[in-house]
Amino acid sequence: MTTQATSTKANPATAKLTLNGKDYDLPVIVGTEGETAVDVRKFRDASGAITYDPGYGNTGACSSAITFIDGDKGILQYRGYPIEELARGASFLEVAYLLIYGKLPNKQEWADFSGQITLHTLIHEDMKKFFEGYPSGAHPMAILAAMVASLSTYYPEDAASFNLNITRLLAKLPTIAAFSYKKSIGQPFVYPRNELSYAGNFLNMMFAVPSATYTVKPEVEKALNLLLILHADHEQNCSTSTVRMVGSSKANLFATIASGISALSGPLHGGANQEVIEMLESIRAAGGDHQKFVAQSKDHGSNVKLMGFGHRVYKNFDPRAKILKEAADDVLKALGVKDPTLDIAKGLEEVALRDDYFVSRKLYPNVDFYSGIIYRALGIPTDMFTVMFAIGRLPGWVAHLKEMRDDTTTRINRPRQIYTGPTKRAFVPLSSR
Ligand code: SDX
Repeated sequence: MTTQATSTKANPATAKLTLNGKDYDLPVIVGTEGETAVDVRKFRDASGAITYDPGYGNTGACSSAITFIDGDKGILQYRGYPIEELARGASFLEVAYLLIYGKLPNKQEWADFSGQITLHTLIHEDMKKFFEGYPSGAHPMAILAAMVASLSTYYPEDAASFNLNITRLLAKLPTIAAFSYKKSIGQPFVYPRNELSYAGNFLNMMFAVPSATYTVKPEVEKALNLLLILHADHEQNCSTSTVRMVGSSKANLFATIASGISALSGPLHGGANQEVIEMLESIRAAGGDHQKFVAQSKDHGSNVKLMGFGHRVYKNFDPRAKILKEAADDVLKALGVKDPTLDIAKGLEEVALRDDYFVSRKLYPNVDFYSGIIYRALGIPTDMFTVMFAIGRLPGWVAHLKEMRDDTTTRINRPRQIYTGPTKRAFVPLSSR
């Protein structure tokens, strides 16, 4: 395939692909940050051939105005705003509004949006009974996915209720998450409190008990707000692509987001933050030998990975990991927490980033490498780490679903395949086999 003159937005070039001696001119699409794509939408009709890209690592499944990532430069922007600036100056709900509605809210929009969220934090009292059916050791990600899907039985969806259901889900997800934690430790549910912030309300529902006064520490609230912002969106990652896939069938909001929660639970995706802490703990228990673990993670036969390292897109530092590494020091100091796993993590990073195996494969710490250390310092139990990722990622999932719904050209997603099974053969009755 050859591409003619450098393609620009003003003057998009075409790409020439030759197949079986025939030339095909394919349009070239250029994004606002200069990314280039070859548009193959008409190629199969013209040539009978499809393109092939298992795992979609080189395939654009959509165009989107929500988040921009430059994996080589370590850039992450939500609606054009650098993640570093949002992390320093915004609240998580402001970022949620930005991702979903495309702009930072003005004072009136902020009052309406945050006010509506506050009014919808309760779940229907009947939904509390659902928790009684789960075994005490149930993983909270399984409960979260099931409860979110069940919200559709209380709030059926039509065009008029879609935006209200977005508000309901943003408001209720922390409540469901906190209730699942309280159920797992046998404590009574703590109801939402309207005077608290989004992060503060979640912390109160998680850690308050009827028999004592719980005060949300500002440094804990600030750290949680930061963690939620850093996880809020990441363009076409596995769980967001799942949301777009399921949402393209016009499944309702709750069923669609429940599919994103399930995709996120995998250890290669959002489940990695729990795996990182368990990895760091196992290294500590084995005497803290980074070198030995790094050697194991380089041996493909060991089935051991350096969890929290590597990324499909970032081939430089994940900007979120940079921010979290600094925040981990600040939060532990502010809380007076000594966590040896932080030193183990820093040691691992140092050893790996001097090792050619990782350098040659451009494997750097990703968002999951340091997040668990901060969650733990905030008192969040390890099996709730991926739930925290889901609470953070919810606005991103919703934003992509809304963007897809608002695009009148959206069609149901239906990829093609290359068949490699048996060619046509006659059926043989059981009596003859
Ligand atoms: C998230 O997409 C997103 O944006 C995701 C996310 C988001 O915000 O939504 O950023 C969140 O999911 C972060 C990633 C969390 N997962 C982990 O930390 C799990 C450990 N990382 C790896 O499993 C892996 O790096 C992935 C899954 C993150 C990326 O996988 P790829 O792009 O398919 O890369 P690969 O598995 O093909 O690896 C390429 C090479 C292989 O070696 P070779 O075959 O070339 O010899 O690098 C090796 C891999 O074995 N490798 C690792 C490794 N990651 C990749 N070797 C040891 N430890 C690792 N962590």
